[in-house]
This record gives sequence, structure tokens and C-alpha cells, in this order.
Amino acid sequence: MLILLDTANLEGIRKLNDMYPIDGITTNPSIIVKEKTNFIDLIKEIRSIIGTDKMLHVQTLGTTALEIVEEAEYLNEKIGGNFYVKIPVTDEGIKAMKILKEKSIKVSATSIITALQGLIAAKAGAEYVIPYVNRIDNISGDGVGVVSEMVCIFEAYGFKTKVLAASFKNVDQIKRACLAGTHAITAAQDIITQLLQHPLTDWSVEQFTKDWENMYGKGKRTNNI
Ligand code: G3P
Repeated sequence: MLILLDTANLEGIRKLNDMYPIDGITTNPSIIVKEKTNFIDLIKEIRSIIGTDKMLHVQTLGTTALEIVEEAEYLNEKIGGNFYVKIPVTDEGIKAMKILKEKSIKVSATSIITALQGLIAAKAGAEYVIPYVNRIDNISGDGVGVVSEMVCIFEAYGFKTKVLAASFKNVDQIKRACLAGTHAITAAQDIITQLLQHPLTDWSVEQFTKDWENMYGKGKRTNNI
């Protein structure tokens, strides 16, 4: 099971990549423009922070298969390492996925709202499909239900394609996506940190420290008493 960060914020990436078991970074055009800086320099800096082994997903903007393939080849060459080109599941996007499969450039199929879009992307050779859980929930759909359906379809037909669930707005959506068998999730920095936070954990740690220091003195730990 993989946990990725859905951001292009360098400070956030440095901090969370250092602290948490992060498997990679996903971005999209809206995430990139928030950083208000040169695109390719930003992506290269992200690559240098996370190293070459971790996944880095970057999205294309082309509207024809030819444009998408050109962007994918450019990005793959410029970024390198464990790179995935993110392509929306339009008709031309699916055509581009088939071409890129032949060229051995790894694809994550994005902007997925229905399980059947995921099925077509898997057939076209996508390594990951990215359903937008919260955006589906926001149109009175069932985001986690779509995750569950794709996991089920891929298992039933023996696809190697994996589900990388995205667009989370709370930790309960992530928990339910995990219970539905998602292979990976990606979320913003604040949601990832909330996965760990609990006031009862903080209270317990404070209590342990208080008890210990009452006996052994302030600042004393297991290795200095
Ligand atoms: O990368 C896709 C995902 O980031 C969309 O998320 O939060 O904008 O719905 P959101």
C-alpha cells in the first residue's frame, strides 16, 4: 500500500518526506500553479528532494494524442527516475496511453469519475488509475464505491493496473478507501498529517513523561539516568 503527497510545495515535501513513510508525489496543473514559479525547475527540485526511486506524477495539458505523447516524452526525459505521466481519461488521452505503453513510458490515468473509465484506461495500459473520491462525493456519488468497483474489476480480470485514490478532504474517506482495497492513496499535506493526530495520543505521551520525570527528574530519558 502506497502513500503519496498531492502537492508541489517544496517546504511541505521536504518536511513530510523526511518525517513520514511517503512513497512519492502527485501533482496536477492547479497544484503546480499555486507555487507561482518556473514549472520545470520546480519539478526538478521535487525530484532532487525525493530522489530517483520514489514515484513522481506530472500531468500533461495537450488535447490531442500527439500533443500528449510529445509532452510525456519531454517530461520523461527532463524529470527521469520513477516518473509517471498523468493523463486525463479523454478519448485522445486513452489513445496517447496506448502509444506510450508501446514506448514504455509509465502512465497514471487521471480525472476518473467512473469505474468504467478506469477499466478503459487499464486496457489502454495505464499503470495507475486515479479516481477523484471527494469530487465524486460532491456530485452525490460514492467516491469510495468507485474505488471498490475498480479494485474488484481489476482483480476479476487479472489486470496489473492499480488504484491510486485521490481528491480526499477528510481522513474518513481515506480509511474507507483503504478498507475498499485501494492500492495507493494521495492527499494534501494537511490531510496526511491528520492521519496521525489524536488528542488521546498526545495526552498519553504527556502522562508518561510526567510520571517518568516525577521519579527521575526533568529531561531524563531511558539512556541518561
Ligand atoms: O491530483 C488529483 C487530485 O489532486 C484532485 O484533488 O482535492 O483538487 O479534488 P482535489
